[in-house]
Amino acid sequence: VIRLSKSIIDHLEERALKRVLAAGYLGMGSEVKSFEEELSAYLSGEKKSVVCVNSGTAALHLALQALGVGPGDEVIVPTFTFVASFQAISATGATPVACDVLENNALIDLDDAKNRVTSKTKAIMPVHYASYPGDLNSVYAFAKRYGLCVVEDAAHAFGCEYQGQKIGGFGDTVCFSFDGIKNITSGEGGAIVTSDEKIIEKIKDARLLGVIKDSDNRYLGKRSWDFDVAEQGWRYHMSDLMAAIGRVQLQRFEGEFKPIRQNLAKRYRSLLKANTNIGLFDTDLKNIIPHIMPIRVFNGKRNVLKDSLESAGIQTGIHYKPNHLLTKYKVKGVDLPVAEKLYSEILTLPLHPELTYNDVDLITNIVNQISK
Ligand SMILES: Cc1ncc(COP(=O)(O)O)c(C=O)c1O
Repeated sequence: VIRLSKSIIDHLEERALKRVLAAGYLGMGSEVKSFEEELSAYLSGEKKSVVCVNSGTAALHLALQALGVGPGDEVIVPTFTFVASFQAISATGATPVACDVLENNALIDLDDAKNRVTSKTKAIMPVHYASYPGDLNSVYAFAKRYGLCVVEDAAHAFGCEYQGQKIGGFGDTVCFSFDGIKNITSGEGGAIVTSDEKIIEKIKDARLLGVIKDSDNRYLGKRSWDFDVAEQGWRYHMSDLMAAIGRVQLQRFEGEFKPIRQNLAKRYRSLLKANTNIGLFDTDLKNIIPHIMPIRVFNGKRNVLKDSLESAGIQTGIHYKPNHLLTKYKVKGVDLPVAEKLYSEILTLPLHPELTYNDVDLITNIVNQISK
């Protein structure tokens, strides 16, 4: 079987885990602090602060909460994303307002977003689908024009660059996911990146059930006993076990995972680009590191191709079912035609650092045969 995605773990992660096991405390401690510092150095040359949490969803939820997003507010978000983006918004009590995407890259369509701004709109959440940030400057200009906060859902975009800077190295509030199959993993996990120290303090408290200034004690292997709580918090902190894996993955990323992912995606694209029955999304493989490899299958052949690949032992995926089609997020009268069309065409092909060029050749042969 050729897997759609995979955690890539070897003896280095094993050794790091043994170090934590031997220390006799698996919860949040100095490993988390080190991971946060190393992420800050990697992403921003230490210009930004990083807070680690136990999922990308938790990162988005805490970022929104710290920015004051709550009941009665609206957050504009592209419908073409994982349900995590929507759940993080509704978890604050705010309403996710689904908007359509651009056909050529599946990223937020700001012309459509413009029509969805109301007096309740508080934030906009661009999603870097398939790791591509698109025209991020225009998203920030849009937010400025309407007085909105920006929370970037950069779950797919760890390590990617935009105009010479890393995603997370600039901008407002940026959230990453380190779940099992992302560009780097900590088992599960996530991080919030910002230079606003007030937001950082709020998030640090909120990830530990709202216990004020507990993070600094935890980093030192201590606890706060006579503590105070002033705000709603959550049990969202990262553990040392997770951070130990994440630190090794960060070390391996530039030299190992990054070039492999980029080269595999380049090979896919070069073997599919002549096929007029297949569509490729716009991207920028010099500057981005692809987390997934979605294609469009024209002429109504998506499901036939999915079944053919499946019977050849090749796993595929569909990223994503538009969220405005889900019972919880359906709004009467809202149709998002581009996202709905893309949903009928998309198919995600395997992409992970243990995939080989031979695998890509085999997969693209089937794609080119069946889509004819
Ligand atoms: C676009 C997007 N947003 C948010 C998330 C949430 O991340 P996590 O799975 O770490 O909660 C994911 C990943 O699952 C994602 O793909």
